[in-house]
Amino acid sequence: MSTKNGQFIPGLQGVVAAETNLSSVDGQKGELIIAGFPVEVLAGSAGHEEVIYLLWHDHLPNRAELEGFKEEMAAERPIAPATIELLRTAAAEKRPVMDALRMGAATLDLQREQGASDEQTALAIVARLPVIVAAYWRLRQGQEPVAPRLDLGQAANYLYMLTGEEADPAMVRGLETYLNTVIDHGLNASTFAARVIVATQSDLVSAVVGAIGALKGPIHGGAPGPALDMVFAIGSPENAEPYMRMLLERGERLMGFGHRVYKVRDPRAEVLSKAAEKMFTGGGDMALYTLARHVEDTAVVLLEEYKPGRQLQTNVEFYTALLLHGLGLSTELFTPTFALSRAAGWLAHCFEQQRDGRIIRPDSRYRGEMNRSWQPMAERI
Ligand code: ACO
Repeated sequence: MSTKNGQFIPGLQGVVAAETNLSSVDGQKGELIIAGFPVEVLAGSAGHEEVIYLLWHDHLPNRAELEGFKEEMAAERPIAPATIELLRTAAAEKRPVMDALRMGAATLDLQREQGASDEQTALAIVARLPVIVAAYWRLRQGQEPVAPRLDLGQAANYLYMLTGEEADPAMVRGLETYLNTVIDHGLNASTFAARVIVATQSDLVSAVVGAIGALKGPIHGGAPGPALDMVFAIGSPENAEPYMRMLLERGERLMGFGHRVYKVRDPRAEVLSKAAEKMFTGGGDMALYTLARHVEDTAVVLLEEYKPGRQLQTNVEFYTALLLHGLGLSTELFTPTFALSRAAGWLAHCFEQQRDGRIIRPDSRYRGEMNRSWQPMAERI
């Protein structure tokens, strides 16, 4: 139910604009429930396609359903030659990856068969977005794209297309845990954008293109890159306190800390720190992981000292950075990789919005002039 009586709520903060079965975010308890499961239970146990199926069908797939779903999705992976050509042009101009993803996503209509169901279209979108990102990334490095493998899952195939080599299973598991963790998070800005678009009875490709545009903004898609830069700049545990004290004394923010909704540790930080630990223990840069844990502990103490009572805790970006870095991804790929997962969440919201069927059309309050008198051009100075 939305607020009535002309009351203006900047940013619609606290306004309930949708009902959903997809995720529940409790910022005081630090709880994220995805389709009935705590994120801590779901993220590390499920395969990524399993979670997509769960969100789109509101129940876990049985073995046959999951196998069929994965096969259908994999079969949709190849992208149109025209899309590759567009990416080639964008790469020559060194466009940011999110811009290329937005441009590439808009071409997905080229392969859309007349009369395709919304679920078929959604499968194709989720199957092809990683192919677009990986192809573009390689083109930007002056390499040819690697064709998708249809025998691999979504996460394994993404890593394969980026490098041309099959990834270690521990890396694939790490990426799946990340993708599952960030697949949905209440009515965030890009999800809302997707729901607004589809509520006009527009199509799913349009909704996803619009949502990519919303996610691309730095205060939504986030900047896990700067969080990682800070850990690198700190360099060693004994430097953590003086370095962050210096930033706080200068009035700067510690990247990867604080959240509009969460007033305790973001539950996704917990999941991702455990996943990162597992991955780094299995052969990564353990010293970097240990340093990051120390930076986190020190930051939380310092934030309480400098901003008492503000409840500034670790957010999802801090360990996203560490995990994706551990997977060998460049910081430029962090937000696009987030988009690959969130796209399945956007589409699940689109299905819900289509069932609800109501156009989203809030009011605005006019605050401009009311009684201007018209002046012909010749009389204007
Ligand atoms: N470091 C230092 N101080 C901080 C931080 C931080 N990370 N975050 C908030 N504060 C301080 C602010 O300076 C402010 O202090 P003041 O009242 O003395 O001026 C107070 O805490 C409240 O800050 P707000 O900006 O009002 O808090 P808000 O809830 O609007 O901000 C936000 C949330 C934007 C995430 C903020 O905590 C921040 O900038 N964090 C760092 C950037 C970051 O990690 N972003 C990723 C967020 S996760 C995501 O978007 C998916």
